[in-house]
Amino acid sequence: MNQALQRGSEYFSSQFGGAPDGLWSAPGRVNLIGEHTDYNEGFAFPLAIDKRTTVAARAREDRLLRVASSAFPGVVEANLDALTPDALTGWAAYPLGVAWAMSRAAAGDGGASSGARLTGMDLALTSNVPAGAGLSSSAAVECAVAVALNDLWGLGLDRQELARIGQLAENKVVGAPTGIMDQSASLLGEPDHGILLDCQNLLTESVALGFAAAGAGLLVIDTRTSHSHADGGYASRRRSCEDGARAMGVGSLRALGPEDLPRAADLLDEKTYRRVRHIITENQRVLDTVAALRGSGAAAIGPFLNASHVSMRDDFEISTPELDLAVASAQELGAIGARMTGGGFGGAAIALVRNDDAGRVAGGIARSFARAGYTAPAIFPVTASGGARRDL
Ligand code: GLA
Repeated sequence: MNQALQRGSEYFSSQFGGAPDGLWSAPGRVNLIGEHTDYNEGFAFPLAIDKRTTVAARAREDRLLRVASSAFPGVVEANLDALTPDALTGWAAYPLGVAWAMSRAAAGDGGASSGARLTGMDLALTSNVPAGAGLSSSAAVECAVAVALNDLWGLGLDRQELARIGQLAENKVVGAPTGIMDQSASLLGEPDHGILLDCQNLLTESVALGFAAAGAGLLVIDTRTSHSHADGGYASRRRSCEDGARAMGVGSLRALGPEDLPRAADLLDEKTYRRVRHIITENQRVLDTVAALRGSGAAAIGPFLNASHVSMRDDFEISTPELDLAVASAQELGAIGARMTGGGFGGAAIALVRNDDAGRVAGGIARSFARAGYTAPAIFPVTASGGARRDL
């Protein structure tokens, strides 16, 4: 048993006594490129990272759900028959929100017999996905719990359905109007591969990253500045996109391409135009990045990463001074490319760097932060890893 599983199992015993029926885990993610495109039915290209949330679970004979997390004190209890989105708050809203969404799915969307055959559960969560860094620690929790309940409840839901369940929990229970990218990455990740998501039809394709062949790897620069997508910024960007689509006479911005930009400039107010331009150009950059990876290899994707950051900074306006500094320093120090990743307003940037340069780039970024008087960032490498699974 590896260390994470050992820890998960011991934590379970300390909270609930005895041994779990099994252990499941799901990773966090970084998005290589394609930001705020998911809820516009566009393209995104995330990867699952080598940091995971583990859930040790044991079925009960009654209808009680008990959840514990090593990151928070206490055990939270809820009854399967009384789960409602409004009643769930705090960290436990994530695992219990998944249980709620899943019991609805089990009953064919919330009919009266909702999940009658489901049993209660003891769930113990441990994690090494940094929280609040924009690495989808919440999706890791949702997806680990989703695969565990799917197995123990014998529901046989596929990965796409599980991703929608995680998203539903986040939207309805946590109250963050987020898209499907994070859960898809956490469920579908593969070692050394990114996942090309077409959010219009949820078609996915694994694409080899070829970082090792390019002698390069990803550094995460966690600025340790906080972000919450239940706050205003994320939702207001989403609204601008919806307004833009409506004004352009399309169901979603996915229907538009670069050729529509002049008409958008005529029709939309200046700010909405810039929001729309980010989405249209970002969709194209995702496709360009994947084409470059397949053609010339990872060393060729830098310009797309860099352009994505500029678009998020200037058009979508979701970057922060700390993220801009992380990206600019990485670029000055010779990174192949760099950009902020995730929803924005804080969190992390990523830099694709040659392995030989990694130490120098990380040291240089840390020094620029110190010079600027910013909180010291956490800088660490990540590798593309496997998605949610049963470990034991
Ligand atoms: C957050 C959301 C995702 C996605 C990104 C931005 O991570 O959870 O659905 O919208 O922001 O790309």
